[in-house]
Amino acid sequence: MNKLEVKIGSLTLKNPVMTASGTFGYGDEYISLLDISKLGAIVTKTLTMEPRAGNPAPRIWELPYGMLNSIGLANIGVHRFISEKLPILRDYEATVIANIASADVAGYTEVIKILENEKGISAYELNVSCPNVEKEGMAFGADVETLLEVTRRCREAADKCLIVKLTPNVYDIGSLAQAAVEGGADALTVANTVLGMAVDIESRKPRIPSALAGYSGPGIKPVNLAKLYQVRKAVDVPLIGCGGIMNYRDALEYMITGAAAVQIGSGTYKNPRLAVEVIDDMERYLNEKGIDDIDNLIGTMK
Ligand code: SIN
Repeated sequence: MNKLEVKIGSLTLKNPVMTASGTFGYGDEYISLLDISKLGAIVTKTLTMEPRAGNPAPRIWELPYGMLNSIGLANIGVHRFISEKLPILRDYEATVIANIASADVAGYTEVIKILENEKGISAYELNVSCPNVEKEGMAFGADVETLLEVTRRCREAADKCLIVKLTPNVYDIGSLAQAAVEGGADALTVANTVLGMAVDIESRKPRIPSALAGYSGPGIKPVNLAKLYQVRKAVDVPLIGCGGIMNYRDALEYMITGAAAVQIGSGTYKNPRLAVEVIDDMERYLNEKGIDDIDNLIGTMK
């Protein structure tokens, strides 16, 4: 029996550890560093219909407890992903979740329709929470009615498992979680980056040209963990914890709070093998504690 196996909607994962969108490219870049088939899933960099160059540099700023990013959804577009990246991921038998975004609702469903018949895609993760583009992302994820609409339309287009990635940059995340579930989401990722910024006191300019950026890394773990706790109370679908996971203990905090799976993001920049190390350490923890199924740990916070 595989004691790490978890279910996310219709999807069975060999273990609960995924790589977070935007922090692991399209997976192929990491093939020389780790066995990508060992991962619970790879979540792709956000895919849009057309390729995107993204925001002007500098797009990253390192901080003591994490980093700011304002990439602006730079990506190769869904068609090049299918022709250049997906065959490699299939060859390596990786479990792939396609993260998608668009400037309008119709754009999300068009990308889904293109991916729907492709072998090697197990699920979609809707990026309705990117803080770094004018129209895309956040606008969908921060408003209950809009989120309900985009999720409902994507549900109609998708047979595959549908995951919605929520923004933490709202007061009442529970209402947004309820809207996504009402719209047909099978699972929710909690959560994307926290809005942040940094200023250079010599030039008096923001470190990132757009000023506002997404803050990730260990500094946001308490924030996103609290958001997951609130979402857990609001809805009854599998949750995927994301934000500041730097080791297996961080991952288990999310799972004990109620996450069925986790995503490793910025931690991969510090240690490219972090996700596989977390899988091994999780298994060792279960063995040490005499827990024979990770399901017996999920949501057991006292
Ligand atoms: C970006 O591409 O700017 C980051 C993506 C995100 O935060 O969703």
